Amino acid sequence: MVLVTGGAGYIGSHTCVALGEAGFDFVVFDNLCNSSQESLKRVSKIIGKRVDFVEGDIRNAKDLQKVFDTYHIDSVIHFAGLKAVGESVKIPLKYYENNINGTITLLKTMQENSCKKIVFSSSATVYGDPHTTPVKKEFPLSATNPYGRTKLFIEEILRDLFVSDSDLK
Ligand SMILES: NC(=O)c1ccc[n+]([C@@H]2O[C@H](COP(=O)([O-])OP(=O)(O)OC[C@H]3O[C@@H](n4cnc5c(N)ncnc54)[C@H](O)[C@@H]3O)[C@@H](O)[C@H]2O)c1
Repeated sequence: MVLVTGGAGYIGSHTCVALGEAGFDFVVFDNLCNSSQESLKRVSKIIGKRVDFVEGDIRNAKDLQKVFDTYHIDSVIHFAGLKAVGESVKIPLKYYENNINGTITLLKTMQENSCKKIVFSSSATVYGDPHTTPVKKEFPLSATNPYGRTKLFIEEILRDLFVSDSDLK
């Protein structure tokens, strides 16, 4: 079963359609701070199947553990996060708190439940101001705003985690 954090949001809900159409079982975990269950009703209609949904916050370890207790989660697609560049400049702590603390709590819960596969929705902002386009994956990393820095730091956390456990994918 795939856990889709932020699955009620824009990209998450489209990913749910793709997962459903490809025959994957999935459960959506979202605190609905920037979405509503209406998107999941529509996903359900498109794929012709009920969508499992748990309302909760990735910063709350108990909420997350409940999902791992209820479902056999073998992989995670992680979209949950705040994503507005301008807003992140005005309220940086909220961004660091939500995106970074939330991701650390998610990663710890995955670790505690031996869940070793994650796809993280990062951002092109981790390439800062690239000198040329199109941006290539091997371009140097940097960020010019708090939102981008949350993504860059999370990428670094994931790199460190992989060094500590090469079974991670
Ligand atoms: N939209 C883009 O162009 C774009 C580009 C690159 C990366 N991303 C990243 O992809 C992800 C999804 O983006 P989106 O455009 O679908 O945004 P979105 O706001 O539509 O979706 C994010 C979802 O995460 C949920 N969420 C936020 N904080 C949460 C928390 N603490 N606990 C649980 N749920 C939480 C929101 O309610 C929302 O449903 C984000 O992480 C974003 O940074 C988006």
